[in-house]
Amino acid sequence: MQAIDLLLRRRSAKTLTEPGPDEGALALLLESAARAPDHGRLRPWRFIVIQGPARARFGELMAAQLHRVRPASTPESLERERQKAFRAPLIIAVAAVCDPQAKVPPLEQLLAAGCAAGNILLAAQALGFNAVWKTGAAAYDETIKTALGLTPKDSIVAFLYVGTEPAGEGAPPPATQWRDRVLIWNG
Ligand SMILES: Cc1cc2nc3c(=O)[nH]c(=O)nc-3n(C[C@H](O)[C@H](O)[C@H](O)COP(=O)(O)O)c2cc1C
Repeated sequence: MQAIDLLLRRRSAKTLTEPGPDEGALALLLESAARAPDHGRLRPWRFIVIQGPARARFGELMAAQLHRVRPASTPESLERERQKAFRAPLIIAVAAVCDPQAKVPPLEQLLAAGCAAGNILLAAQALGFNAVWKTGAAAYDETIKTALGLTPKDSIVAFLYVGTEPAGEGAPPPATQWRDRVLIWNG
């Protein structure tokens, strides 16, 4: 597939199943991420790979977070939260660990991590997988950040759910509207 077709056709799958990327494919996803534009070559991104049985522990973290913010959550809603970790064979949490002392502003470091996450979405699709970008309250939760080896000051920019889109579910993406967001500036 031509790179331009990949870019024009990217879209999030509704469902993600096995197989997920094997070790080689995962390395390609992460290598693509690390090729993202990066002002000052600070490599502000961190990638936390969650797969296999670790997803159950991650699901527990998500359910515990929901219970913290909504103590009245029903057992059913907590279970739904737990099961979110099994939406895909692989989850890659992408975080930005920004250096406030660096010459490059933290916003640009954050953007570099966001670009790295975007590269993973595209690389996954290029390799025949699909990936879906989620955040939600869990991404901003200090307990979850700490459990993932980050500090509360760090930013989780994405939980990327990566897997295979079931055959037949791959409808073409809707037409994009972009013209109304463009200004040809002539001074
Ligand atoms: C920073 C960021 C966070 C997002 N968080 C969520 C989320 O928590 N839940 C969700 O349903 N979609 C989220 N999305 C949007 C989806 O990943 C997806 O892009 C959107 O539904 C449009 O679908 P498409 O990718 O097929 O165009 C997020 C996107 C970005 C860039």
